[in-house]
Amino acid sequence: MSTRAIVLAAGMGTRMKSALPKVLHSLCGRPMLWYTLRALRDAGVDEIAIVTNPLVDTELAPLAREFSARTVIQDPQRGTGHAVQVALAALTPSAGTIVIAYGDMPLVTPAIFENVLADVDADAGTVLALVTARMPLPSSFGRIVRGRSGVAKIVEARDCTPAELAIDEMNAGIYAFDEPNLRAVIDKLSDNNAQRELYLTDTVELLIDAGRRVVPVVADDYRAVLGVNDRVELANARAVLNRALCEAHMQAGVTIVDPATTYLEPDLVIGQDVTIHPNTALGGATSIATGSEIGPNTRLHGASVGANCAIRESVVVDSQIGDHVGVGPFAHIRGGSIVADHVHIGNFVELKKTAMHAHAKAGHLAYLGDGIIGARTNIGAGTIFCNYDGKNKNTTTIGADAFIGSNSSLVAPITIGDGALTGAGTVAIRDIAPGERVVGNPGRPLPRTAHETVP
Ligand code: UD1
Ligand code: MG
Repeated sequence: MSTRAIVLAAGMGTRMKSALPKVLHSLCGRPMLWYTLRALRDAGVDEIAIVTNPLVDTELAPLAREFSARTVIQDPQRGTGHAVQVALAALTPSAGTIVIAYGDMPLVTPAIFENVLADVDADAGTVLALVTARMPLPSSFGRIVRGRSGVAKIVEARDCTPAELAIDEMNAGIYAFDEPNLRAVIDKLSDNNAQRELYLTDTVELLIDAGRRVVPVVADDYRAVLGVNDRVELANARAVLNRALCEAHMQAGVTIVDPATTYLEPDLVIGQDVTIHPNTALGGATSIATGSEIGPNTRLHGASVGANCAIRESVVVDSQIGDHVGVGPFAHIRGGSIVADHVHIGNFVELKKTAMHAHAKAGHLAYLGDGIIGARTNIGAGTIFCNYDGKNKNTTTIGADAFIGSNSSLVAPITIGDGALTGAGTVAIRDIAPGERVVGNPGRPLPRTAHETVP
């Protein structure tokens, strides 16, 4: 049977003081809500409904699509119990277990969902398992009041007696309900409490009164279930998450010189014996093959880097780098550039949507946009591909074994043949034939002297 989940994300999160809804604030490259959805999917939940509000709904759509989740609008927001009422009304009733989680817990793990799912046993009368955590006081979390055989009730901090406030076992906000039993009590909630809201947590007492059992599943580490309510907690959660991402890669054989200044995102592919130097950020669909050295002071986003490369103090975005490539310091490679094996790209070189074939070199100070550079060709310092004529972006194509002299401007569209040469300071405005040598402004062929042979 399929397992379904309801994720509550309709609150605006007033303590964020933001125009952006709380659950869309990001940490480690993903919106907060992404982590809850991902953990649910990894725990085997295959049908997700996200409770949202009219303002959030469109902004949430891409995320919902990524996880094939549906959204259900709750308007107005009258509490967590009301959010679940709205969601259940939109879902066709099913006889299985339904997980309910809040969208503001980015550190939650799939194991937490698996554990809570494993503890529901409707046939044996256990119709609700919920995650609890022992954590330092004071805390604003709901308090777990234990009964003879499990949880007796949950009391929100604002409704607690002094004795209840002293309880250090908290409600994490992750529940696995037997769905028919949840449906049997959900419409019986009342707003007779400090916040005048319908509390999902009041279902505990209703189920106990109906003779059912509610069991706690104590989390190993309370930090995994901390909800994020403001930007200080967001930064703290980011640090914890980043550290966990770094540790997973270090365990897999990656050297991270300084995890505190290495900024990672989920789903990076990093090979064994890669070294990441300080102040380096890796994001998007980035992969790095074995033996490469990345950083310091480097950003890779959507970059695929081959084996045994050295990328120093540079930026690579949406581009591919082959094996044994040296990049930087201070290079910028972007826009779908493709760099083949053994290429060297040095100081202050920008590549945009340009392919460099094997062993090509651009050592210093160049703008190479919309180009194709043949194998072993050398691009001199100060070379500019003049790709933009004010209307269109035009292509510069250079063959193999060519030599582009320092400070050459190649006015695109232009094709330069294999083995061709431009002298220093050439402004090339016409195609250059294979083996031809061009100098000056505007560039013109340099006559060969009698003793020279054409290659
Ligand atoms: C809730 C729990 C509390 C628990 C804590 C854990 C209740 C009554 N209390 O308190 O026991 O210790 O979480 O973090 O459930 N939401 C909606 N619609 C609403 C109200 C809230 O979708 O009408 C969503 C929010 O967007 C949020 C989640 O539900 O993602 C939790 O709401 P929040 O207001 O943060 O509840 P807490 O006061 O933290
Ligand atoms: Mg909260």
